[in-house]
Amino acid sequence: MSKKFYITTAIDYANGSPHLGHAYEKVLTDIVARFRRLMGDEVKFLTGLDEHGQKVQMSAQKEGVAPIEVCDRLATEFQGLCTALHISNDDYIRTTQDRHKAAVQDILQKLYDKGEIYKADYNGFYSVRQEQFVTEKEKVDGKWPEIYGDVVEVTESNYFFKLAQYQDWLVDTIKTNEQMIYPRFRSADVLQFLKEPLNDLCISRPKERLEWGIELPFDSDFVTYVWFDALTNYITAAGYGTDEFEQHWPADYHVIGKDILVPPHAVYWPIMLKALGIELPKHFLVHGWWLSSGSKMSKSTGEVVNPLDLIDQFGADAFRYFVTREMNVGQDSEFSIELFMSRYNSDLANDLGNLVSRLLNMGGRYAEGKVPAAEIEDTPEKELKALWATTGAELIPLFEDFQFHKALDRIFTFVSGINRYAETRAPWKLAKSEAAADQAALRTSLATMAEALRLAVVMLTPVMPEISNKIRGLIGADDFDRLEGQLEWGNTLEGKALGEKAILFPRPERKA
Ligand code: MSP
Repeated sequence: MSKKFYITTAIDYANGSPHLGHAYEKVLTDIVARFRRLMGDEVKFLTGLDEHGQKVQMSAQKEGVAPIEVCDRLATEFQGLCTALHISNDDYIRTTQDRHKAAVQDILQKLYDKGEIYKADYNGFYSVRQEQFVTEKEKVDGKWPEIYGDVVEVTESNYFFKLAQYQDWLVDTIKTNEQMIYPRFRSADVLQFLKEPLNDLCISRPKERLEWGIELPFDSDFVTYVWFDALTNYITAAGYGTDEFEQHWPADYHVIGKDILVPPHAVYWPIMLKALGIELPKHFLVHGWWLSSGSKMSKSTGEVVNPLDLIDQFGADAFRYFVTREMNVGQDSEFSIELFMSRYNSDLANDLGNLVSRLLNMGGRYAEGKVPAAEIEDTPEKELKALWATTGAELIPLFEDFQFHKALDRIFTFVSGINRYAETRAPWKLAKSEAAADQAALRTSLATMAEALRLAVVMLTPVMPEISNKIRGLIGADDFDRLEGQLEWGNTLEGKALGEKAILFPRPERKA
């Protein structure tokens, strides 16, 4: 069986409701997954929930319920977000599932048997909020940064994974494997981190401090610590230990936010795999953060934007469009409702929405609700086709390079071009003339608008799957499951029935 294109998101912490950052990552990954399917790949798309750890245990205690109850509730919320956003994942992993526990324990045992894990006393500073030991060098101006919350000194026995011995190998791997991390400039962050000697990684917690975790197979007094548990999800769901594994692994892309590249994904994960003799993932696609007033939008800062509100109000596709149009993958982006509204009104409602409704309207009035034949080709048609020739040629390369914001910019420039074409041809004026030349121009203009609209929508499909399908339905264009041939200008719609006038992007109701 041939290898699938395997793409994953980070698994979200089950310690709070989903927010914009979670939603964005899923949309981004979904766009890549949908695009790859259209390019002919068989895709496995994994997302999921990271359920163990101190914070989950603590919130369960506070509520007086079992931790799994908290997780079940959040799993419903996070999966609900995926459904609401039309995320096309074909697996959802929860780290409390038996398949995952079995894989984690298997890996731990293997590494322990190989002598890669050892027990030692550890004395250090522990951040309760981040559930990790921190070192003096992480202090800023003599203080622990805010993100660590309370930092306390503790001594305890724990298990450690031997990271340090792989340092040179990892530096070499990152240096020689330039395509591994996208965007490329993030490799520098990894190499910078690797300039300091690596400490071995503490991978356990004594059960008296943390019960809510996967038990170490070789010492039942301990559970494994969050990263060792979480990262493993990528191979659990790929069928680690079964024949299915080679169909999926290595992962083509791990999509993650910039905060979890170094050290977990770019240091711990490659070393864990290397120690296990498993191939490394091919690439990391590292996106930036959604910011509001310059701060990260997340639970800990209290600045939570609930994406579900925008989705409910404006539809999944409008939300998907906005986050994809605004974010230059890899950079940070500012979020505001004003920006959302401005994109919604100008790009979606005015440019695209009006184009569709005016085409349907004129098709009904002047062409008996059918796409006429294009009979002539004068300057306006030539200009629009020339604009498509450059636009169409750019789109796949831009998608391949994750430049979705640029691709959308090009598509909407083309949509404006179609609207300009309509203004130039002014079919409503041509309709008033009986002259044969004007009638031919009228038919041509409607045919040209319809075909151009079909083309504009092709590469919107991975970004706005629902709207794109709707538009295709309204102009009589067929659905497709491969991009091949779809981006070429033709007379594909001649004679096809046009739908009733539709409002695709209703204006929000004003609050009284
Ligand atoms: N559970 C870990 C990941 C384990 S992966 C083996 C985790 N969870 S998280 O819920 O905190 O974050 C999940 C993803 O959301 C991460 O990739 C993170 O970067 C992303 N985002 C969280 N806040 C974000 C923004 N404000 N903006 C964009 N994405 C950010 O980390």
